[in-house]
Amino acid sequence: MKNIYSNIFKADKNTLRKAIKTLKIKKLIGVPTETVYGLAGNAYSDSAVKKIYKLKGRPFKNPLIIHYHNQNLLKNDVKLDHNFFKLYKNFCPGPITFVLKKNKNSKLSKIATANLDTVAVRFPKNKIIKKLLKSLSFPLAIPSANKSTHVSPVSAKDVAEEFKKSLKFILDDGYCKIGLESTVIDLTSKPKILRPGFINSTEISKILNMTVKYSSRSKAIKSPGMLKRHYSPGIPIKLNRKRAGINEAFIVFGKKYKNKKNTFNLSSKSSLTEAAKNLYKTLRLIKNKNYKMICVSPIPKVGLGLAINDRLKRAAK
Ligand code: TXA
Ligand code: MG
Repeated sequence: MKNIYSNIFKADKNTLRKAIKTLKIKKLIGVPTETVYGLAGNAYSDSAVKKIYKLKGRPFKNPLIIHYHNQNLLKNDVKLDHNFFKLYKNFCPGPITFVLKKNKNSKLSKIATANLDTVAVRFPKNKIIKKLLKSLSFPLAIPSANKSTHVSPVSAKDVAEEFKKSLKFILDDGYCKIGLESTVIDLTSKPKILRPGFINSTEISKILNMTVKYSSRSKAIKSPGMLKRHYSPGIPIKLNRKRAGINEAFIVFGKKYKNKKNTFNLSSKSSLTEAAKNLYKTLRLIKNKNYKMICVSPIPKVGLGLAINDRLKRAAK
C-alpha cells in the first residue's frame, strides 16, 4: 500500500542511516518508542532543542526528558544513586523516567532542562529508537510528538497529523506497544511518583523496599507541564458517566456495554493494558469523527487504571 504521507518512512537500514544524519545536523525527527511517539533532537545542542520547543509550542519552563542508550553517556550528565541503580536494573530499558540531580559539567543544553539543576532521563525499549541512540555520540531530548496540550501520538500517522509539513522525517514502527507515557519518578529527595504510568507505585515500592507514592499536588514539583491542561482532544469530556446522549461519543470499559455506533470500548475483555493501548487512539478517532462531547464510563482505579484515570482527568480539565 502506498503511503500517502511523504514524511513517513518505514524504519529500515537506509531510513535509520538518514535519521542519524538528520539528527547530527541538529534537525528534528519523529521517532517510535514503546510508550508514545516522540519528537527527537540532539540534547547537547541549544539550536536543536529550541526547534523542539518551537515546533511543539511548548513553554520553555517545561523541561524535556533526555533519552539514553545506557549509562555510558549518562554518567557525565547526572549524579547516580542507589535507588536509581535498583530501579534501572529491574525496569530498564523500559517505560520509566528518573528525575536526578544534574552534574555541573554536564553537556546537556540548559534549554532542554529549563535551567533546572535536575534532569529527567529515560532508557527506551523500542528496538528502533535503541538502535538510533546506540549510533549517536549524544543523547536525545524526546518529548511526546504532539503540539503542547494535545493528545500524545501512538502511530507515525498521528505524528504527521500533529505537525503536518513542518516535520520532514518520521520513522514508522507501527503502533506503540504501551500507548501511554512513561512513569516519572523523582529521585532527588524521598522518591515520589510525579506522573503515573505503566510501571506502578506498588512495583516500584517493592524494589526500593519503601512506600513510594504518587504526589500529584506536590509543592516540590518540578514538572510544570503536569499541572496544566494536557492530553486534550479539544472536545469537552465528562467523566464517570453511566450513559451518553446519542450524539455524544461514549468511551467505555468492560463487557457490560452494548456495541452502539457512538460507543468506543477501550477493552471489552476488561484488560487495563489493552485499555491503555487504546486510549489515545480512541480520543483521536473521536475527534476525527467530529463529535462535540465525550462521556467516559468509570474505569477501575487500580494498577494501570490509575494512569488512565490521571490522563482522562487532565484531558477533561
Ligand atoms: O513516555 C515518555 O516519557 C515519552 C516518550 C516519547 O519517551 N515522553 C514524554 O515526554 O512523555 P513529555 O515531554 O511529553 O513529558 C515529559 C514530562 C513533563 O511532564 C515534564 O514536565 C517532566 O516530564 N519533566 C521533565 N524534566 C523534568 C524534571 N527535571 N523534573 C520534573 N519533571 C520533569
Ligand atoms: Mg507530552
